[in-house]
Amino acid sequence: MEDKIKNIQQDYKEKIDQAKSLKELDGIFLELFGKNGKLDQLPKEFKNLSPDKLRVVSPLFNQIKQELEKAIQRKREEVKEEIYKSLENEKFVRQPGRLQAKKRQGHLHPTTQLLNETIELFSKLGFERFDAPHIDTDEYNFELLNIPEGHPARDLWDTLYIDSEKYGIQPGKLLLRTHTSNGQIRAMRQLKPPMRVMIFDRCFRYENLDARHEHTLEQFEIVYIDKGVSMANLQYLSEYFFQGILGKDIKARLRPKYYPFVEPGAGVDGLCIFCKGKGCNVCGGTGWLELAGAGMIHPQVLKNGGIDPNEYSGIAWGVGPERMAMLKYGVEDIRLFKSGDLKFLEKY
Ligand code: PHE
Repeated sequence: MEDKIKNIQQDYKEKIDQAKSLKELDGIFLELFGKNGKLDQLPKEFKNLSPDKLRVVSPLFNQIKQELEKAIQRKREEVKEEIYKSLENEKFVRQPGRLQAKKRQGHLHPTTQLLNETIELFSKLGFERFDAPHIDTDEYNFELLNIPEGHPARDLWDTLYIDSEKYGIQPGKLLLRTHTSNGQIRAMRQLKPPMRVMIFDRCFRYENLDARHEHTLEQFEIVYIDKGVSMANLQYLSEYFFQGILGKDIKARLRPKYYPFVEPGAGVDGLCIFCKGKGCNVCGGTGWLELAGAGMIHPQVLKNGGIDPNEYSGIAWGVGPERMAMLKYGVEDIRLFKSGDLKFLEKY
């Protein structure tokens, strides 16, 4: 038995000495100490030994077991040392770490920049933020704005409908809002006139996508209700906004336009920033660009909001911040804004 133990010692000391990798050492360790390993199995044979023999063999076994374990450990350290040394000569270890690399600085999205500028302009005139939901009912988005079911104007604002039965709402009555005008009635019902609010953020449409149309778009809208508010306020506010964003020399022009929730309704044009009214490719030779929709709030809509149209009048005015950003920054395709393309975003 003693010879057997000593043979194991001899064999494995050599094997350990010659091992060159941590993997090899792991293998040797398993051969010796693993389940069914050489040193694991050996003590099973001790039961046949005489007590005298056992007194010699047992300590020898323990001593050699420890010796081999230590030898493996020592060799492990040696091998690791070798690995570190070889890595020191590798270039990448000496290169500066990521943390030392120059930090990249981000900035606000161009639409957010434009939206923030717009908010600041109207805040100066006492307008306050009013939030309306992105997912809304047919009632707030259409019905109460004089756009009943079957009204031809609905074609202008086709949208995506939500499977509403789950929520106990009649099918076809829950939708992604098509405009920020869905906040008009809510604002009227929650606040008492005189009131000046800004409603903004995402809107959604079921659109044929092209360079000027997106299914997900930003809108910014103001609702101003007081005694004696008139189209003159609309003209002034439109020009105030265009000049604040695009430059002092941009005039505004109101053109008759139909929206069911305003009367009269207006398309608001800004003097073309490229040709300043002379006529060019961008404005189609007219010298003007349509930038906003607006009008006097329809008396029925005021009533729906709980406001007496004989006492108060109001204006609503809405613009697309992305369209404005396209003009201001010379962006040719609206789809770039939400493309997540860093090369595009880094330019602004
Ligand atoms: N909500 C209209 C649209 O999305 C714009 C608008 C706002 C028109 C306010 C008039 C008054 O097209």
